[in-house]
Amino acid sequence: MTPLKLRKNAAEALKVVRELVRARAGGRVEARVAADEAKLDYAGFMGAAHELQGHGLVELEESGGETLRLTDEGTEYAKRGLPERRMIDWMVSNGVEEIPVTEFLEKVGLEPRFFYIGLSNLKKRRWVAVSKATERESAYPLVKESPPPTALEELINWLAANGPAVLDSIPEGLKGEVATLRRRKLVKVDKGARRYLVLTELGARTVPEEVQELVEMAQLTPELLATGKWREVSFKPFNVEALGPRLFGGRIHPMVMLINEVREIFLSMGFTEIRGPVVESAFYNFDALFVPQDHPAREMHDTFYLSRPSRTKLPAKVKVENVRKTHEDGWKTGSRGWRYRWSREEAERALLRTHTTATTVRYLDEVVKSGAKLPVKVFSIDRVFRNEKVDQSHLAEFHQIEGIVVAENATLADLIGTLTSFYHKMGFKKVITRPGFFPYTEPSMQISVYAEKINKWLEMGGSGIFRPEVCAPWGIEEPVRVLAWGMGLERLAMFRFAEITDIRDLFRSPVGWLREVPV
Ligand code: PHE
Repeated sequence: MTPLKLRKNAAEALKVVRELVRARAGGRVEARVAADEAKLDYAGFMGAAHELQGHGLVELEESGGETLRLTDEGTEYAKRGLPERRMIDWMVSNGVEEIPVTEFLEKVGLEPRFFYIGLSNLKKRRWVAVSKATERESAYPLVKESPPPTALEELINWLAANGPAVLDSIPEGLKGEVATLRRRKLVKVDKGARRYLVLTELGARTVPEEVQELVEMAQLTPELLATGKWREVSFKPFNVEALGPRLFGGRIHPMVMLINEVREIFLSMGFTEIRGPVVESAFYNFDALFVPQDHPAREMHDTFYLSRPSRTKLPAKVKVENVRKTHEDGWKTGSRGWRYRWSREEAERALLRTHTTATTVRYLDEVVKSGAKLPVKVFSIDRVFRNEKVDQSHLAEFHQIEGIVVAENATLADLIGTLTSFYHKMGFKKVITRPGFFPYTEPSMQISVYAEKINKWLEMGGSGIFRPEVCAPWGIEEPVRVLAWGMGLERLAMFRFAEITDIRDLFRSPVGWLREVPV
């Protein structure tokens, strides 16, 4: 029989295991204990253990699963209560009915970090509501007494009383809260089961001193050749299937790629790109679009008005007058107007544009002044802002794909044709338009496309033919008409990058996604 050859670490590991189980076949030792004893790091020791297993000298066994242990923060909460509990108890015991949030923070005696964690959980549990209706943000308790302990609190107490626990040992009713504990970083999870080495019959019989040391070389070196030592060593076989390290180079952000794609399509359809200011006047954002000055969409909850600058410059006086007259009595457009006194001040207010239609309507002036040959076809892909509550499907700043066609006798069919061909080029075969409403278009249409991949209609945006009330102030009159549309870019992105389920990730840019997303 050829003598057994083992690498140095494996021979050492065998020696240690035999010592620890007194060379008794079936004897068991935990891998970490043996690794310490052999003075090897765990990974190195496990490499040796696998070699021993390959020779049938030991068997490897595993037991247990993840162990949960309270973090320092978790332990603190077990002792003193979760921040939300301490906060609601404080409110109840002080008979608070309403308290400005800043005062709450001062009085309840929690560090700001914990205070805000607590506040957010109080809202989630509906123990407290926070309202911005008053001048200062205020908190209101929604319960009269301290609520009974939650499952989360019971779990924390259970862990505090029972010490680190294997997942399986946690009482059924409390297991559901483990995810929350982990999210709030109140527990640490020790992964990886415990591993054991069990000495086999063969292992018990094999005396390490009789084992020959195996020298395995990864590379043939000039020294090995020159000394003739290559004859004695064995070489590690090449693993031709092993994956090389992955390299990630810089690349264009997926949203920029998508914007470029949309841009290419409009350019290929004969459009020219325009851009307009982000800080707009209410005039272009609303008035020029025949949106009355008391329209609810203008109010603070939708529009970010600016305080610096708070006023903007309006275009030439005649144009402003035309818009005023159109609002007040319809001027020469055939409309009766909105029948109120139009205010120049209101129109001068500075805001962050809420739609890129502000940019296209700005351009109408340009079209007439430059005397450009019709048809004029322009588009814009740009950022807009709305005071929306940000969550996984809403952003307060996003992009619109906007465009106009100015042409003689342009019809709704031309508009449908243009949009359909754009979406065809984006890969959507079915496009549907339905009646819609915008104060600045008549007729107006909603545009939806059919996404085969998910078997759903996606609503993409609005469109229509600008009303005479929008066109006339700039000198655009029948038979010249303006076809217009404004569509969401993020809508397209969420479909294209289906692996993104939280819209905020498009801008948070998780690096894993950025690396993997196909070009
Ligand atoms: N501005 C509209 C929006 O933001 C879209 C639109 C643009 C509708 C042009 C009609 C014409 O939803």
